[in-house]
Amino acid sequence: MMKCLQSWPEPIVRVQSLAESGITTIPEHYIKPLSKRPSTGLVHDDATVNIPVIDLQALAGDDQDLRETTLQLVLSACKEWGFFQVVNHGMSHELMKRARETWREFFEQPLEVKQEYSNDPITYEGYGSRLGVEKGAILDWSDYYFLHYLPPTLRKPEKWPALPSSCRDMIEEYGEEATRVCGMLLRMLSLNLGLGEDYLPIAFGGEENVGACLRVNFYPKCPQPDLTLGISPHSDPGGMTLLLPDEDVAGLQVRKGENWVTVKPVPNAFVVNMGDQMQVLSNAIYKSVEHRVIVNSVKDRVSLAMFYNPKSDLLIEPAKALVTKDRPALYPPMTFDEYRLYIRTKGLCGKAQVESLKSHE
Ligand code: OGA
Ligand code: NI
Repeated sequence: MMKCLQSWPEPIVRVQSLAESGITTIPEHYIKPLSKRPSTGLVHDDATVNIPVIDLQALAGDDQDLRETTLQLVLSACKEWGFFQVVNHGMSHELMKRARETWREFFEQPLEVKQEYSNDPITYEGYGSRLGVEKGAILDWSDYYFLHYLPPTLRKPEKWPALPSSCRDMIEEYGEEATRVCGMLLRMLSLNLGLGEDYLPIAFGGEENVGACLRVNFYPKCPQPDLTLGISPHSDPGGMTLLLPDEDVAGLQVRKGENWVTVKPVPNAFVVNMGDQMQVLSNAIYKSVEHRVIVNSVKDRVSLAMFYNPKSDLLIEPAKALVTKDRPALYPPMTFDEYRLYIRTKGLCGKAQVESLKSHE
């Protein structure tokens, strides 16, 4: 029996408060072991290497050839990287900017204002500073705000920040637009598997049931950025992630073989990546790719991750059309609820979880 996780195993320390206290060395439980520090693995952070940037303009037009070319670019990006940036995705640049600025204002408020929304390890909703409840775990250098946007039955605006006063309306507006972009991407991903554009949307539970949660990450500046990470290596457990990165501070790194590639955000772009459920549904044609976040000593960083997930109690399994004699189903059916419980207990673990699901013949 899974034990109930009523509260955090240790008092919660806000990383932002630590950073603002003027310390010049970081507490021990943020120091990663040598093999897990940012300098491990070859890091490509030069301007010449980046994840693909794809212009989605053609999807709105009626030039079929251009549309096909765009789909092909998405397919190769999914296969080669599991990560890409999109521009001309249809969300207004003004809204993207306002969303980032409003959340930055939220984190800049006094601690007491934010503490009202402190989260717990059962729902994770609200203001948080750790993932997982293992006592004595090495923690990441970030705070976050987590909330549900879809399905509407899980949407609880009273758990969203009341301040800044525009915050709740902005979340509604951003949520609507971001989930629209996710819906469009999901249809493309579905088409690209040869399944027809409705297969994945239906496998996710359809429009009324699909899940969407927002995790806003705040990475305070860090006096010893070489010793820690903003988020440890992980793959996103859900379906697909639409990330709005900070416009002027890089930090996200994507695994490419043995290397880490720093994402160089393009103006007004979203970063899109495949989650573990997509790897399962596609029978590993799409792979959820490991990524991590590094911090720096100069500037705070804010990012908004919209997780677009299958309805949490549906069985997720490889699409029958992608299972053949030569390529049997690589994963057993499992609900996203079952899958997620593990992470919420143990914390992030690179790609160990989805790999451990692999059926052994
Ligand atoms: C995440 C994540 C990356 C970033 O929230 O899962 O990977 O750049 N965020 O903040
Ligand atoms: Ni992630």
